[in-house]
Amino acid sequence: MSGLSRRNFLENSMFAIAAAAGVGAAQPRRASSDERVGPNDKLRVAILGVNGRGQSHIGGFIGNTYCDVVALCDPDEIVGMTRVKQVEEKQGGKIKYFRDLRGVMEDPNIDVVTIATPNHWHSLATIWAVQAGKHVYCEKPVSHNVEEGRRAVQAIEKHGTIVQCGTQSRSSKAHQEAVQFLRSGGIGDVTLARGLCYKRRPSIGPRGNYDVPANVDYNIYLGPAAAEPLTRPRFHYDWHWQWNCGNGDLGNQGIHQMDIARWGIDADDLGERVVTYGGRLGYEDAGETANTEISIYDFSGGRRIIFETRGLETDDYRGAKIGVVFHGTKGYVVSTSDYSNVTAFDPDGNVLKKFEGGGNHFDNFVDAVRAKDASLLNCPFAEGHLSSALCHLGNISYRLGEQRSVAEIREALAKDADAAETIGRTVDHLKANQVNLDQTPMTLGPVLTLNGREEKFTGSLSDQANAFTFREGRGDFKIPSAANV
Ligand SMILES: NC(=O)c1ccc[n+]([C@@H]2O[C@H](COP(=O)([O-])OP(=O)(O)OC[C@H]3O[C@@H](n4cnc5c(N)ncnc54)[C@H](O)[C@@H]3O)[C@@H](O)[C@H]2O)c1
Repeated sequence: MSGLSRRNFLENSMFAIAAAAGVGAAQPRRASSDERVGPNDKLRVAILGVNGRGQSHIGGFIGNTYCDVVALCDPDEIVGMTRVKQVEEKQGGKIKYFRDLRGVMEDPNIDVVTIATPNHWHSLATIWAVQAGKHVYCEKPVSHNVEEGRRAVQAIEKHGTIVQCGTQSRSSKAHQEAVQFLRSGGIGDVTLARGLCYKRRPSIGPRGNYDVPANVDYNIYLGPAAAEPLTRPRFHYDWHWQWNCGNGDLGNQGIHQMDIARWGIDADDLGERVVTYGGRLGYEDAGETANTEISIYDFSGGRRIIFETRGLETDDYRGAKIGVVFHGTKGYVVSTSDYSNVTAFDPDGNVLKKFEGGGNHFDNFVDAVRAKDASLLNCPFAEGHLSSALCHLGNISYRLGEQRSVAEIREALAKDADAAETIGRTVDHLKANQVNLDQTPMTLGPVLTLNGREEKFTGSLSDQANAFTFREGRGDFKIPSAANV
């Protein structure tokens, strides 16, 4: 199965022994860069985080002829061991279980690391994995903040392994063709991409002091996040709605649509301006992130994205609840949650063209690894970084905001026709959900200006805003500096 040379094997066995003895340093050592993956060898895959999305990784990689799932890693031992048994039954033979991802990094018998942990681990785990010479499939968003994502991009450039971002629409034939159509002027000039994340999200229950399940190593779980006590009732998944580990629905479901929107308008940096308004409305709970959030992004050349997140009951927008609507001078294009269909319409709503066909994003990654050719990737990490960072920017404006009346928000956005239309619909939607915006007002963030290439805020609020673009990490889990990635 393995393409390991004898020298490589001996070298790497030492790493394994050191790791087993608990000698592992905070930063894993680099495995040999000798080629281990010949065309006839199977890739040995380890999956990090196997509660929810990690199950799709398991299925995707077991399902690929060129892969063996050889290890699972999860600081929740019950989750980890349950999945280990499932993989052993499905695939046949024993596989390894790691509670601590550093063991995975130090294991020479692992070629590929896939990451389906909570968001706050994505960049650091990617950095460690590429430093250890491993190829990586990293879930979206690829970062929890802007700067750590950039550091991971630098690490990938330095170490040269192959790293895919898990925004799977990039492998959809329908989306690939629709983007070509948009870029070739199929609906004239695209003036606006409207991202939609209309997904009902219930309350996550009251804020309080809750016990971390005994089967979880909470230090490993938190990693680079702050060492905060558990304040949400449900341990798994609901981290999405607390800033320490999550990025709200904009950085959860929304990042998929943000990526499609940015791809469609061909924006290759973080743009020039962002402003956000919204709130966590309709219930009070342990969550901190907005469940209603409108972010308006301006890029050079008049290109824009307006991203609407709605967590309460809602109708669709032009047939889409989760989707992107590209508005052009000669029509519009609608991408919905149906991954393998995209439709173009003329300005009167008549169908101009239909794009059909899906694709397998895991297989695309495996093909690129086997060919040792990162240019084959449908979504290199660097692309995922830009789309993830846009989500973070929207959240930063929100987090710097202050509560304002609807009239004040309308007035602030009155000169912008697209924004004025959006707030009209947003307020109607909230009223339909019996949200009283006098009692629980929305928050309006500042208009933040940016140097999109440098990935830094500019202007009078730059210090406050840039402070949100990085978190250095904690203890053994620090994000390496650009020089040390
Ligand atoms: N591409 C997609 O369509 C898609 C769909 C769902 C989720 N996701 C992404 O997948 C990720 C996981 O989401 P989820 O819904 O499965 O969350 P989850 O909370 O259900 O599961 C996360 C798991 O990761 C484990 N974990 C935490 N720290 C870890 C570490 N250091 N090493 C290994 N495991 C660790 C947790 O114990 C938990 O079992 C998120 O980033 C999410 O955005 C992507």
